[in-house]
Amino acid sequence: MDLGLSYDDVLLVPKRSSIKSRKDVSTTSNLTKKIKIHVPIISANMDTVTESEMAISMAELGGVGIIHRFNTIEEQVDEVKKVKRYRNAIIENPLTVPIDLPITDLIHLGAKHKFSSFLVVDFNKKLVGIVTSRDVRFKQPGSLIVRDVMTPKDKLIVGMSSVSVNKAKKVMVNHKIEKLPIINDDWTVAGLITSKDIFKKALHPFSTLDSKERLMVGAAIGVKLTEIKRAKELIDAGVDFLVIDIAHGHSDHEIELLKKIKKEFPKIEVIAGNVCTPEGTRDLIKAGADCVKVGVGPGSTCVTRLVSGAGYPQISAIINCAKVADKLNVPIIADGGIKLSGDITKAIAAGASTVMLGSMLAGTEEAPGKTLIKNGKKIKIYRGMASFGAKLGKDSKNSVEDNISEYVPEGVEATVPYKGNVEEIIHQLVGGLRSGMSYVGAKNINEIRGKCEFVQITAGGLRESHPHDINTV
Ligand code: XMP
Repeated sequence: MDLGLSYDDVLLVPKRSSIKSRKDVSTTSNLTKKIKIHVPIISANMDTVTESEMAISMAELGGVGIIHRFNTIEEQVDEVKKVKRYRNAIIENPLTVPIDLPITDLIHLGAKHKFSSFLVVDFNKKLVGIVTSRDVRFKQPGSLIVRDVMTPKDKLIVGMSSVSVNKAKKVMVNHKIEKLPIINDDWTVAGLITSKDIFKKALHPFSTLDSKERLMVGAAIGVKLTEIKRAKELIDAGVDFLVIDIAHGHSDHEIELLKKIKKEFPKIEVIAGNVCTPEGTRDLIKAGADCVKVGVGPGSTCVTRLVSGAGYPQISAIINCAKVADKLNVPIIADGGIKLSGDITKAIAAGASTVMLGSMLAGTEEAPGKTLIKNGKKIKIYRGMASFGAKLGKDSKNSVEDNISEYVPEGVEATVPYKGNVEEIIHQLVGGLRSGMSYVGAKNINEIRGKCEFVQITAGGLRESHPHDINTV
């Protein structure tokens, strides 16, 4: 029988290091065969962790988020679109409003899309003005329509569709304008450039961006063959990669779906999982996986190992799976069980290219769900996707007809402390990773990944690792 070890069972053995400052360490890594990210952290595809708000922040900070699938296709597509619209070099399909739209409707539209301005078009889709929230502020909407308050065409500065983004930026700076509508020769709308997008880029230089400088986002799909429809709609909405998300990914039906998706949509990269063995990793890669998600039962809300008796301790699972994946040149994600920044360093040293986090991000402002107060402390709800509550929520949205009384949960529902903005958490985690890399003398991910010496520790060693024999304040 093999010995299976997890994060708390091991430490990295420090090595001679030439690193003078942790800032000199690069954390850029491969998410999939083709996609690189500067911060090797992914927010989990769980309904209490990742919707558009989390995915936007994660991608801005250099990581990435995966929109969960426990919603209708329309809802999931909507979340993907919100991320893709958030930042653009040029917004190619800006939302437009008709010139005769009542101001009351405009206000609703602004609230729905979280936009403060819209381009105004006539019946032939030609640009006739721009309307911003400032134009309607302090006005009684009453019977007013867009035409009454907009800035009309003759007062607009516009750019032609042939203009380069750099030239457009100069025009905006010279005229001190925040929005530059881009038009075709016949004045139909070709796009929109906003100063906000330019500012966002300057604020977050390491963001995870696609070729059009939009934030990247992934989305999860289930394993039923009907999920091909979900995949297609997500791809049409601009999703950058898909995640086939099932608990036991080393299964015939996942392999079948993976092959089908890679055949029907050869350009989209697919992350497949979850597995915990070299055989599972190999089979998914052979079926076309561009990345494999590793982790059966390590998650903080998981009771899979207790309920089913199956699973594999996570550090050993990563080491075993990475050996196979490396030979086939495919990255792996260490998914679940990470509770400290040191665990991220250990996961990557064991062979993972990136890590997926649930509980560490579920308490942040950007995670879905309201912040609640319990015993005077702020908390948020975090639940396993195989928990009873998640199952009930999913069924109410997808009208699955399973008999709920026969359901055997493999996850629990919990609360986590409120943690403020995700940016602060990611900052701490990346700081910890950089520190770990400097302890083993690794200047980049290639120099640490799968190349470190681990020492197995005892309960005494673990006790020694934590603050001890003092009263912490
Ligand atoms: P952490 O430890 O970061 O783990 O909270 C997040 C990962 O846990 C997995 N997950 C589950 N596993 N039953 C399980 O056995 C569940 O109900 C469940 N929900 C989530 C998932 O891989 C996630 O990324």
